[in-house]
Amino acid sequence: MGIKRIGVLTSGGDAPGMNSCVRAVVRTALYHGIECYGIRRGYNGLISGDIIKLDEKNVSHIINRGGTILYTARSKEFLNEEGQKKAVSTCKFLGLDSIVAIGGDGTFRGARALSKWGINVVCIPATIDNDISCTNYSIGFDTAANTAIECIDKLRDTMQSHERCSVVEVMGRNAGYLAMYVGLAVGATAILVPEEPIDFERDVIEKIRAARFNGFTHYMIVVAEGAGSASEIANKIKEAIDLDPRVTVLGHIQRGGTPTGRDRVNATKMGYLAVEMLLQGRTNRIVCTHQGTFTDVDIDEGLAMQKHIQKMEVDVLAAMTGI
Ligand code: F6P
Repeated sequence: MGIKRIGVLTSGGDAPGMNSCVRAVVRTALYHGIECYGIRRGYNGLISGDIIKLDEKNVSHIINRGGTILYTARSKEFLNEEGQKKAVSTCKFLGLDSIVAIGGDGTFRGARALSKWGINVVCIPATIDNDISCTNYSIGFDTAANTAIECIDKLRDTMQSHERCSVVEVMGRNAGYLAMYVGLAVGATAILVPEEPIDFERDVIEKIRAARFNGFTHYMIVVAEGAGSASEIANKIKEAIDLDPRVTVLGHIQRGGTPTGRDRVNATKMGYLAVEMLLQGRTNRIVCTHQGTFTDVDIDEGLAMQKHIQKMEVDVLAAMTGI
């Protein structure tokens, strides 16, 4: 297939490592003598023609930068056919035959819509939530997890000094992968995620009581935003037991910062693979990881897959918090 011009976009919530990935797409395209254009503000940029030519200079010194130089958005206009037609006519006008779409499920649905209009697309998973079913790894998760871990370690110092209880809310939208990982990493007293049924007395109060019985005097409760609000949980703890918990909502701080080495290297590999796939005619696919290796799946199949919290994580949590 004669790929001539690739467009690359970032869409949905930003994730550290998106820039590393954009850089890899551009450098791989140029390596093969293919032109590369950056589409700004996600699918909105494709609709409005907000597009810039990218070369090695535009993407220099961004491998280490959080956020996305292409900006990002969740485009409402692109959800309808009118918006999609405008986007396709921009592609035709600029001679963009292929698009690399970096983001989460919403981004992939957008790419699937483009593919129906004859544009070659390859998707790359990037979201701190790590909630994309077809892949174990998504760009940004590692950095976000490490940011949250660092914040909670700091919180622990003051919780320990004052012998307090902390309730920390971790991002993740409707998914608890980030909260579970972070909670295990900080040795939380309890972790609440939306995927697991919660019995408040058993999963929070009993855990605190058991920790106290064993001589602990401060308690760290990690809650995924999809499992409830930290302030509501703190209030319930206060009603149930003689503690006055402090609430911390980590919020968007988790989405920023210098990407970790892991995010940079994986983003670079995924960006490289996306362009190689386009060159080989392997289009309408999602680059992903499965059992420790890089692979890819058809967009429809990938979007239809289901993901679950690993049973092992649930078992480990029980062992780490059960007395
Ligand atoms: O999907 C990434 C994410 O950060 C979620 O964890 C969170 O629920 C959401 O985006 C927040 O979106 P916004 O940046 O629009 O507030």
